[in-house]
Amino acid sequence: MSALQEIRNRFAPVLAGLTDDVESSLSMIRSSQDPKFGDFQANCAMPLAKKSGVAPRDLAQQMVDQVQLDDLCETVEVAGPGFINLKLRTDWLEQQARRIVADDRLGVQQVEPKKIVIDYSSPNVAKPMHVGHLRSSVIGNCLERVLRFLGHDVISDNHIGDWGTQFGMIIYGYGNFVDESTYAKEPVAELARLYRLVNQLSDYHDACSKQPALEEQIRSYGDRITGSELMAEFENSETEKKKKKKALKKLRSEQDGLRETLSSMQSKLETIDSDSELKKLATAHADIARLARLETAKLHSGDEGNRALWDEFLPECLKALDHVYEKLGVSFDKTLGESFYQPMLADVVANLKESGLATDSDGAVCVFAEDNAAPFIVQKSDGAFTYATTDLATIRYRVEEFGTQVMLYVVDTRQSEHFKLLMDTAKRWGYGDVEIQHVNFGTVLGDDRRPFKTRSGDTVGLESLLDEAVARAYKIVCDNDDAKPNGPELDESERRSVGEAVGIGGIKYADLHHNRESDYVFNWDKMLAKTGDTAAYIQYANARINGIFRKGDIDLESLRSDAESLRLEHASERGLFQQILSFEDALIVVEREMRPNMLTQFLFDTANRLSSFYQDCPVLKEEDDAVRTSRLLLCDLTSRTLTQGLELLGIDAPKQM
Ligand code: ARG
Repeated sequence: MSALQEIRNRFAPVLAGLTDDVESSLSMIRSSQDPKFGDFQANCAMPLAKKSGVAPRDLAQQMVDQVQLDDLCETVEVAGPGFINLKLRTDWLEQQARRIVADDRLGVQQVEPKKIVIDYSSPNVAKPMHVGHLRSSVIGNCLERVLRFLGHDVISDNHIGDWGTQFGMIIYGYGNFVDESTYAKEPVAELARLYRLVNQLSDYHDACSKQPALEEQIRSYGDRITGSELMAEFENSETEKKKKKKALKKLRSEQDGLRETLSSMQSKLETIDSDSELKKLATAHADIARLARLETAKLHSGDEGNRALWDEFLPECLKALDHVYEKLGVSFDKTLGESFYQPMLADVVANLKESGLATDSDGAVCVFAEDNAAPFIVQKSDGAFTYATTDLATIRYRVEEFGTQVMLYVVDTRQSEHFKLLMDTAKRWGYGDVEIQHVNFGTVLGDDRRPFKTRSGDTVGLESLLDEAVARAYKIVCDNDDAKPNGPELDESERRSVGEAVGIGGIKYADLHHNRESDYVFNWDKMLAKTGDTAAYIQYANARINGIFRKGDIDLESLRSDAESLRLEHASERGLFQQILSFEDALIVVEREMRPNMLTQFLFDTANRLSSFYQDCPVLKEEDDAVRTSRLLLCDLTSRTLTQGLELLGIDAPKQM
C-alpha cells in the first residue's frame, strides 16, 4: 500500500466521527507541494470546521490528537489556518522499501475486482487503418493493462465495423474494377485500392454537384463583407465600429473556411480531370455512390452473391488489421464486430417497442430521450438497422454473456452525442446498474493544427506511420551507439529491436502523455527526443540502471536477498523511494479518471528523481559497501518500477540501448 493510502486509512475512522462524506475529506489529504511542509498535507479541517462552526485550528488539533500515526509519521503538526502537515518516519519508509524488494507487485494492492469490458480500436474494416485509429488503440490498450494489473477482470473487445457501407463500396469496386492478378497475389492491397477508387469516384461526382452552390455561397459572403466594410466605415461611435469590425472578421474567417473546402474539392476534381483513365471511369460510373449503397443493402438483405464476397473479403481484411496490431503490440480477448450482432437486431427493436421505449416516427423507429434532444434511431424507414441498434444489442450481449459491470468505450469525442443517447437508452432499457462510460479523446493534428494529413491531403496510413517511427528511431539508436566513448555496444539485431522499442514506444508515449481529451500536434522530433517527457528518456533512464548492474557485475538475485541493507539516509534517496512508493496512487488515479497521462507523469517524475539521486549519490563509486548495496537496491527498485510502468503503457524497456 502507498503511504498516501495508508495515511488516508488512518484518518478514515477519525473523519467518520466528523462527517457523513468521509471520501471527500480523504481526497483532501495529498502529498505536499513543498517539502518544507513535510511529505503530506491534510486540508480537510477547514471545510469541516466551517460546517460545524468550530475554529479550524482547534478541529485540526482534535484530529491530530485522535489519529493513530505514531508508527508511520515522525511529525504531525497543525499549521497556518488549520492545515495538518505530516512527515513520514524514515524507518517506516525503509521498512516499506525492504518489503517491496520482495513484492512482484511493487507494493500495489489488488482492488476489489469488477467485470469490465473495454471496447477499443474498433476500426471500420475494408479500408486501411489510419492515424485516427492510433489513439483508441493506444489509450484503450493502456487502460486494459492498468485495469488488469490493478486486479480487475477485464475483457478487451475490438468492436470492428465489418458490416457497413464500405463493404458495398468494395463489392461494387470488385465487380467493376478488380485487377484479378493483383487480387490473387495481394488481396488486401487490391481491396484497399478498390475502396479508395470507389471513394474517389463518388467524391468526384459529389464535388461536381456541390461546387456551383459553394461558389455561389462564397460570392454571397463577398457581398456581405463589402457591405459590412462600408457600414463600419460610416459608423460614428467607436464601440459600434469595433463591433462591426469583429463581425467582419468573423465573416472573413468563415469565407476562408469555405474557400478551403472549395479548394480541396477542386483538387479532387483536378486529380480526376487531369487523368484520362480516371476521367473515363468517372464518366462511365456517374451513379457510383448510389449503386455502391445498393450493394450494401443487398448484402444486408441476404443476397447470396454479395454474402459470398463478404465471406471472402472479411478474413483478408482481418489479416491486414492483425498485421498492424502486431506492430503496435496490441491484442484483444474478443473481436466481436457489427456483423456478429446482426441476427439479434430485430429482436432488440421489438423489445424496445414492447417496453414502450421505442416508437414509430415518420416510418422510422426511434427512442426519444427524456430531455427531448435528438432521437436515437434504431430502425430507419427503409427497414435498415443502425449503428445505434447494434450498440444496444452489444450491451445486452455483454451483460448477459459476460456479466459485465463496467463498460468502457474508447472512442473519438466526435461520437459523444451517440454515446450520450446510448447510455440514456440503456439505462431506461434496464441496464441502469451497468456503469457505462465514453472514454473520449481528441484529434491528432498536423503542423497546420488541422487533422493530420499527408501532403496530398490523404489520411495518414497507420502502418506506414509506424514503419517510419521505427526507421527514424533506428537511426537515432545507431548514431547514439556509434558515439559511445568506448565504441558501439549493440549488434545489428539489438539495434533493430531497440529501434522498434524507441520508435513504437515514442509514438505511443506521445499519444498517452497528452490529456486524452485534448487534440495534439504530431511531431517526430519531440516524440523521439532523448530528453524531456518522452518514452526514450524513460527507456534510457532504465537502460542506464541496467548498465550500472552490468558494469558492476551485479547479481540481482543475491542483491535482492540483501534487502535488509536498504537505507534512505540522503534526501535524494528518500525522495526517489517515496516516488516509487506512490506508484499505486498514480494507478488509482488512472483508473478513477481513465487517464493514462497520470501514469506517464509518474514515470517522468520517477526518471527525474533518479537523475537527482545520481547527482547526489555515487553508486558503484561509493566506497562504503553497505551504502553501495543500499543504493544498488534502490536502483533495482527504480528499474523495476520504470519497466512495469512502461509495460502498462504498452512500451518495451530494453536493458541496453
Ligand atoms: N467503428 C466505429 C468507428 O470507426 C467505432 C466503434 C466504437 N465502438 C462502439 N461500440 N460503437 O467510428
